[in-house]
Amino acid sequence: MVDRDASVIAIDGPSASGKGTVSKRVAGRLGFHLLDSGALYRIAGFAAEERHIDLDDGPSIAAMLDRVDIMFCNDDLESQDGVVYLDGRRLGPELRTEEAGHAASRVAKLPEVRAALVDRQRAFQRLPGLVADGRDMGSVIFPQAELKIYLDASPEERAKRRYNQLKVKGIDVSLTALLADIEARDERDRNRETAPLAVAPGAHVIDTSQMGIEEAVSAVLELWRSR
Ligand code: CDP
Repeated sequence: MVDRDASVIAIDGPSASGKGTVSKRVAGRLGFHLLDSGALYRIAGFAAEERHIDLDDGPSIAAMLDRVDIMFCNDDLESQDGVVYLDGRRLGPELRTEEAGHAASRVAKLPEVRAALVDRQRAFQRLPGLVADGRDMGSVIFPQAELKIYLDASPEERAKRRYNQLKVKGIDVSLTALLADIEARDERDRNRETAPLAVAPGAHVIDTSQMGIEEAVSAVLELWRSR
């Protein structure tokens, strides 16, 4: 049940800034629910491609999203990525590829697609609280969030992190190509007209370029306790 009184911690920021891991750990420590909003955009892109819908066709993708059943399984908060079910089918690594990220960022700029996902995202606000990870959590989806964080890091550091993440998964890519992809995605996410990636009013900016994950988690928990 959606509960408008449930606390929300909004964690926004660019690709590979550590948001996903930090959000999972903060949710785990506080016993809060977790919304990985990026996974919804990844599903939108993935499902559109699979159904041969043009990735620029906002109305058709939105209509498709209204029909599909999407379920998250975030039970294992220590695992790298959550598991998502699309119409009962388990989706895992295929959603986390760079191609899926690229398709996600293409469909994420379409206003019809963003509108189609608003209610699904707000439905995650449940007691005892929610950690919402994304680009527009503090600005658009949960502007009333009790705590807003903007997690950042230099593009070079983010490319390195993504490189290591993919290497662990056995995916071989070049660091130069990753940096170019991250910069292209930043550019698109920051300059789109609908819900661009930006520091929400009242958000605390944490630059994690020189920080380990646990340090960033502690910084967020400290802000939460002293709010
Ligand atoms: O893991 P990474 O940060 O690269 O990507 P993600 O969080 O899974 O999001 C994939 C793409 O979805 C991003 O590049 C954004 O274009 C889009 N997105 C968005 O527009 N709004 C959100 N709240 C979350 C993701």
